[in-house]
This record gives sequence, C-alpha cells and structure tokens, in this order.
Amino acid sequence: MEATAQRDEEARAILRANDRGGYSVPNRRVYPFQWNWDSAFVALGFATFDRDRAWREIETLFAAQWRDGFVPHIVFWQDDPGYFPGPDRWQAGEQVRTSGITQPPVAASIVRTLWNDDPSSRDRLATLFPKLLAWHRWFWRHRDFEDRGVVVTMHPWETGRDNSPEWDVPGAAIDTAGVEPYVRRDTSHLDAAMRPTQLEYDRYVALVDFGRSTGWDHARIAAHSPFRVADIGMSMIFLRANRDLLALAEALGESAAAAEIAGHVARAERGIGWLWDDDAQSWCSRDTITGRPSGFVTSASFLSFWAGLVDPARDAAMLAHFERIGTRVRYLMPSLDPDDPGFQMLRYWRGPVWAVVNYMIGHGLSEAGHVEAGARVLADTTALIARSGFYEAFDPTDGAPTGGDTFSWTAAIWLVRTEQQR
Ligand code: GLC
Repeated sequence: MEATAQRDEEARAILRANDRGGYSVPNRRVYPFQWNWDSAFVALGFATFDRDRAWREIETLFAAQWRDGFVPHIVFWQDDPGYFPGPDRWQAGEQVRTSGITQPPVAASIVRTLWNDDPSSRDRLATLFPKLLAWHRWFWRHRDFEDRGVVVTMHPWETGRDNSPEWDVPGAAIDTAGVEPYVRRDTSHLDAAMRPTQLEYDRYVALVDFGRSTGWDHARIAAHSPFRVADIGMSMIFLRANRDLLALAEALGESAAAAEIAGHVARAERGIGWLWDDDAQSWCSRDTITGRPSGFVTSASFLSFWAGLVDPARDAAMLAHFERIGTRVRYLMPSLDPDDPGFQMLRYWRGPVWAVVNYMIGHGLSEAGHVEAGARVLADTTALIARSGFYEAFDPTDGAPTGGDTFSWTAAIWLVRTEQQR
C-alpha cells in the first residue's frame, strides 16, 4: 500500500515535471514537444488531481488545429534540438509549427470520459465539440477516401505504432534513394536495440519529404503516397471515437451532427469486416495498394472490443488468441504475437507492452462482458508499472523496462487504474 502511494506521488510528479504550461511532453529528452494521442491520455491522468489542467491539455492540442480540421501528431510550441525531424524538416503548421501527419484519434473518447466525470464542464465541452467534429470530418475526407469505413494511414508514425511489422511489406514500396542526409536523435538518447532500424527511419523520413513536397496537400497525398495502409489500430480507435462523439453530440443537442456521425458509425460497422483476415483468424491491417492483409496479430488487433464490435465467431477467435498469448508471456498484451518469428521483446512495437494500448484493450474487453480477460490486462499493466516504474514500454516476458523513462502517458494510466487494480 505504501509502495502504491509512493508510485501515485511519483506519477503526479512526472506529470507536473513534463508540463510545459498547458501541454505536456511525453518525455523530456526523447520527445520534447506536444504529441497528439499522448496528450489525450495524459489528460486522463491530470483529471485525477487537476480537472482544469486536464481540459487544457486537449484545448492546447486543438489550438494547433489547421483550418481544414486536421490535428497534427506533433506540435512544436518551442524549439528543441533533441528531436529529429524537427519543424524545419516538416515545414507544416498554421498558427504554430507542426508535423504534417496526424495520430490515432482517441481524443473524442477521452473528452467523453472527462465530461462524464465532470458534468460542470459543459461549456468547455461545447467549445471543443466543433473542433473534434472538424477533425473527424477531416478523417472521413482524407483517411477514408474510398468510403470503406476504415482508416487508411499515410505514415507509420501516424498509427502511433511506429515500427510494427505490419508496415514492413507495404513500406518496401517507399523509395529512400533521394532522402537528404540527416542525423537521428533518438539513438543518442536510447539503446538502438530498442528503437526502429535505420531502414525504417529512412522510410519515415522519405515519407515526410514526400508530404512536404506536396505542401501537405492531403488530397494529393492520399492519391499518390507510396504508403497507404488500412491500419487496424486507427480503424478501431476511430470507430470507438465516433461512437463517443455521437454521444457527445446527443448530450449537447447537436442533432444534425449526431445524424451525420451516426451515418459514419453505420458505415464503419458495415465496412470494417474488410480488415478481418480469415487465414490469421484475426483483425489485421491491410495494404490498400496491393489489397494484401498483413497477417500479423498485434496488440491493436484486440481493439475490436474497444471499438464496440460484437460478432460472436470473431470475438471467440480473438479470445482464443488472447488465451494462447496469455500462456506465452507473463504480462499482456505484447505489441506483437510472441509466436511470430519477428517477435522481439525489447524492440519498440515488435514485442513490448504499452500501457495506453492495454488501457483500451482492458476496458474494451470489460465493457464487452469479458470481465476476467479485461481485468487481467489492467492488472498486468499495474503490475508492470509497480515493478519497473514509469517507462515507455515493458518486456512482456519479465516486465523489464524499455525505451524512455518518466513517461507521461504511463504515469497517467497508472493514476486511472480501476479500484480492482489498487
Ligand atoms: C513514439 C510512439 C508514439 C508516441 C510517441 C510519443 O513515436 O510510437 O505512439 O505517440 O512516441 O510518445
């Protein structure tokens, strides 16, 4: 109990220390700017001890929104030489310099939680709502341009799961020959064995250079990007976020918006089956250029429960994967199936456990009625942090820390653990 109270204090101290005045950095050295989905989860953590600050985290993110509704994955509120690619390489942004790609749209779901816990925040909700809706419209326009009801990403960084093996085969189509020389900064802070490879980095930078060459014209990017993959993680997160945005629209009496959003929820429910892979018996990302499913079972595959999809046969297949993986590792949910030959327990999104993904899987399973499975994921998350501290990610086999320390979103997820996990 005492150790828990100490961890609580540490978690709050991390959020305060990573606070740059209205927004948080994910980690002070490796990620010294504001990141999109990190901020959403961080708001949840702040809400446990400072509600005003929680809303501000999201409001600051939306202060960087472009006129067309786009919300960037990084906002460069101040300079910092510790990260590459910085604002000069991206050449993007309106009111403030930003990146030119987005990130998993979890914000509407988090805002709904903030509002449920604090109905006195109605004015703040009402101010944010049109901004959230504009962002979702941007997604419908530029990330689901084939009207399939899924999210098609244009960059591995956009998925938030940077080096997942799902991007390896589609990524081979990216020509890296013309990439101007650059110096990575991540590997000067962290062990390269925990980070994406040089080839992967070259592909990331090539896609940044390509986007910049279009002036970040997302219609052109969607038509010509060499990388266009329907990401299972973003697709599930967006479906859930649309359900939550719909609930917010109804609460605010925004009936026209509610009807519009409901139409998109229905479309996603009809279309998302395109991402079911019969061979893998799993939800999997799919390359839209070749049509090929990735075949990888990743932690994102289990977000179908978070998305609120109900399909007994598919749910049973996912729960069978869950049981199998649960016997292979001590801590759920590894970012890649441990039976996959490419599984690496310390290399970023090829094995390690991420607290924020566990938060969504755990709550998704519980809400879907798979209470025991959900409780295990949430309990494993707490156990990992209790054991190893507030790291970026964790080795699923023994709980060893990996990546950066004093991580904001890990601290936030610790603070919002449920009563059963305490
Ligand atoms: C890495 C992660 C991404 C996260 C960012 C900041 O790029 O893959 O999900 O948002 O770091 O923490």
